[in-house]
Amino acid sequence: MNLSDFGRRFQAYSGITHLMDDLAEGMAQPGTIMLGGGNPATIPEVVAVFEAVLDKLRDSGKLVSTLANYDAPQGKASFLETLADFFKQQCGWNITSRNIALTHGSQSSFFILFNSFAGSSRGVIKRVLIPLVPEYLGYCDVGIEADLITSQQAKIQQLGKGFFKYQIDFEKLQVDDSVGLICVSRPTNPSGNVLTDDECQQLDRIAHHHNVPLLIDNAYGTPFPNIIFDDVNPFWNENCIVCMSLSKLGLPGARTGIVVANEEVIRYFSNMTAITSLAPAGIGAEIVNQLILDEALLPLCHDLIRPFYKGRAELAIALLRQAIDDSRLHIHKPEGSMFLWLWFEGLSIDTSELYQRLKRNGLLVVPGKYFFPGQGDDVGEHAESCVRMNYVQSEQELAKGIEILARELKRCW
Ligand SMILES: Cc1ncc(COP(=O)(O)O)c(C=O)c1O
Repeated sequence: MNLSDFGRRFQAYSGITHLMDDLAEGMAQPGTIMLGGGNPATIPEVVAVFEAVLDKLRDSGKLVSTLANYDAPQGKASFLETLADFFKQQCGWNITSRNIALTHGSQSSFFILFNSFAGSSRGVIKRVLIPLVPEYLGYCDVGIEADLITSQQAKIQQLGKGFFKYQIDFEKLQVDDSVGLICVSRPTNPSGNVLTDDECQQLDRIAHHHNVPLLIDNAYGTPFPNIIFDDVNPFWNENCIVCMSLSKLGLPGARTGIVVANEEVIRYFSNMTAITSLAPAGIGAEIVNQLILDEALLPLCHDLIRPFYKGRAELAIALLRQAIDDSRLHIHKPEGSMFLWLWFEGLSIDTSELYQRLKRNGLLVVPGKYFFPGQGDDVGEHAESCVRMNYVQSEQELAKGIEILARELKRCW
């Protein structure tokens, strides 16, 4: 193949593709306990709600009409109207449907946003600033140009009883004219950290001051899917771009992302969608539109989704504390998302090697080093001492997996 620079960039076998292949290979082994991936849990009561909505849409003819028609490039108009009212009511945002665009999932939103606000611009290279790593590994390779991301390691706040929390190190954070976009996930995949309202306000001031947008990736956040365990305020203003998704509600196959931004950004997004894919998918929009109209979306999140993940997080922590009675195990305070972030202090090996050993013993987790976009190859000792594990699996699987982890850690400590 005679590929262009663009083609060659995406032809490269990235570390993440390698990890994903490796995880898939591990998953193919029968009996492997999969605490590695990011698939949301299949919660039977939630599935029942989706099935009931699909029945309703089929009976009213909307299921067929949504599949048989293209929506506008900005997304399904009826859903945009419903969402604007919903966000106004639930979050107090002063928006209309002209402030919202749908995409083929948040990952494709990031691809457009990162490459639109960062990269070469009139002879200058602009970068995406991630003010706190560890951060979502999906950001790592979306740049059409190399080295699109720059980042700052988090400050560690010890909370006692074996818990810690990451904070933005504002004293060290360097923001200059080379920054084109600031990006955070809230809650954060992988650590379950939730930036405080105060941290968001400080970032917002910095973004305003430098005249760059602040992207808040709200894939797990409020008001939906609401996998967030403490009360924090949703954050948006004309300089913010909030990215949401239907995936963690339980609809990753619907490939639907939601972007809330000022009208100029939304017009730009719609043009991009028209050129790259004509229109976003309509089925997820139709399902969630119906859920909002039936006033069923918030109860689904508050009564089913959030308690499920909160319960699983508590269970996983209890199992970990029982199996690993060692003060060198530190757990990031789980404030949201679907992962625990574990820090093993003083290991004799790094967690990439630990990952290989666990895999041989039938357990998949993800080594910490993949979650440090913008830090280059030398991610540092802390990154190499951490792993991410999900807690969406059954109690038996969690217990079995944690037993394997505890055994291997004893050998390495
Ligand atoms: C923080 C975060 N943002 C975005 C996404 C991707 O969402 P989508 O399925 O809408 O592309 C994920 C998926 O795991 C995620 O963890």
